[in-house]
Amino acid sequence: MKRRQFLRSGAALTVGASVFRSEIIRGQAASTPVRRAINGLPASDPLVASYAKAVHLLNNLPPNDPRHWIQQANIHNGFCPHQNWWFLPFHRAYLYYFENICRDALNDPNFALPYWDWTKGPNLPGPFLDHSSPLYHPGRRNDGNVAISPEIAGPQVVEKIIKATLLLEIFSSPTSRDVQRDNPGAGLFEGTPHNGVHSTINGDMNVLLSPKDPIFWLHHCNIDRIWTSWAKLNGNSAPGQDLWKKHKLDAFYDVQTKQQVSPVCSTTLNAENYRANYDHLETLSNGAARNVDSSVRVSMVGRNGSIANQPNLKLFGAMASFGHDFAIGRGGQARLNLTQEWASTNKHAAVVATSGSSELETTATYLVIEDVPMPRTASTALRVFLNCKDPSPATPLSDPTYVGTVAFFGGGQHGSEMHSEMTFTLNVTDVLSRVIRSGIYDPDAPVDIGIVPVDLLNPSRTADSQVLKPKIVRLVGIEATA
Ligand code: C2O
Repeated sequence: MKRRQFLRSGAALTVGASVFRSEIIRGQAASTPVRRAINGLPASDPLVASYAKAVHLLNNLPPNDPRHWIQQANIHNGFCPHQNWWFLPFHRAYLYYFENICRDALNDPNFALPYWDWTKGPNLPGPFLDHSSPLYHPGRRNDGNVAISPEIAGPQVVEKIIKATLLLEIFSSPTSRDVQRDNPGAGLFEGTPHNGVHSTINGDMNVLLSPKDPIFWLHHCNIDRIWTSWAKLNGNSAPGQDLWKKHKLDAFYDVQTKQQVSPVCSTTLNAENYRANYDHLETLSNGAARNVDSSVRVSMVGRNGSIANQPNLKLFGAMASFGHDFAIGRGGQARLNLTQEWASTNKHAAVVATSGSSELETTATYLVIEDVPMPRTASTALRVFLNCKDPSPATPLSDPTYVGTVAFFGGGQHGSEMHSEMTFTLNVTDVLSRVIRSGIYDPDAPVDIGIVPVDLLNPSRTADSQVLKPKIVRLVGIEATA
């Protein structure tokens, strides 16, 4: 690139005397930079100003330069894995290589990406709303007026993630083949805060080209920070299968070697290698995590077919047609008849899962809501209940039958491969035990799965014409092996 040309296009911001000098970065900074929260920082703060400058500089590179802002977004559009177990590793590496590009562009080896803690500050940070800032993105539908809902990213959701003991809740579902864009399903971490923050900002943030919006990178830094927090509390647990570990994460641009790179998935378990250092990690507020048998802990529920291959997975019940419609703003139920094993397993589980019990938990139950077509309203989320009498938008989230809320993400754009359906996998062990112990539910009876679609951008909206139909709903049990 000719420097003169660059300076002309980057006229709005002052550019230092030397730009894009990778050799300086290669020397490494004396101290490892720490990623800090952007919450509450004004646009004039050096961290915010540096990031804004990086956005500006990358936007003004020649369009076919691999470091160009849109070229970086194209990586996501072309490769990002969602609804599978490479979700976290891919995005950790993606942040790292992008951060390197920013450091190089800023000629600042101390630069680290900020993160947006949407739990503490659920509205889009102020500097992103200023129309004259490079941090502003015209392709948003939510311009800071709608906060991220507590059911998506509130303290209770983060606490649930931090306390999660089953790998599936953190890593999403396993694939059965080495295909980066396989989509067996999203777990709690991906399906709730990850997807819900994307779809509440909406517009470009809701599609695979979401890195066009400068808030994308700060959202993912926070996702990565929560992963780091969880890993610290859980002995850096991760899927043990070679299929996961040896997968090559396609494909990033390494500004230091000027090559396209595809790091091996297991390398991302070393957070230091990927500069995943944060000024603050989440911790358990009270009590330890549950005591779960390790074979239950690492079991992964995938698509229907995978159940047959794992002896400790049991299909308790499944249904493929529903007596009710699930429309935006209207609740619906699906009644699931269950196998005989169900009752005995759950009577036992209800006792063991009592909070505070030190007894080893040897079973877990997952609800799989499979192949829900992408809703027309991208900000639709599904509130899920178990054995709720009459689930509706008015049912409080403090109701003992409330399981959680899941959101959608990842519509395609510009000819990219897109997922037209989403699968959600929810751990219902605790809710089951709660409704059994409190006498709301008798495990000898069928289970009612309640689903209430709500519009995150307008929670009181009803739209009877917008019906969401899962293809199949399944309850899957995991039992400890031996
Ligand atoms: Cu691959 Cu949050 O996006």
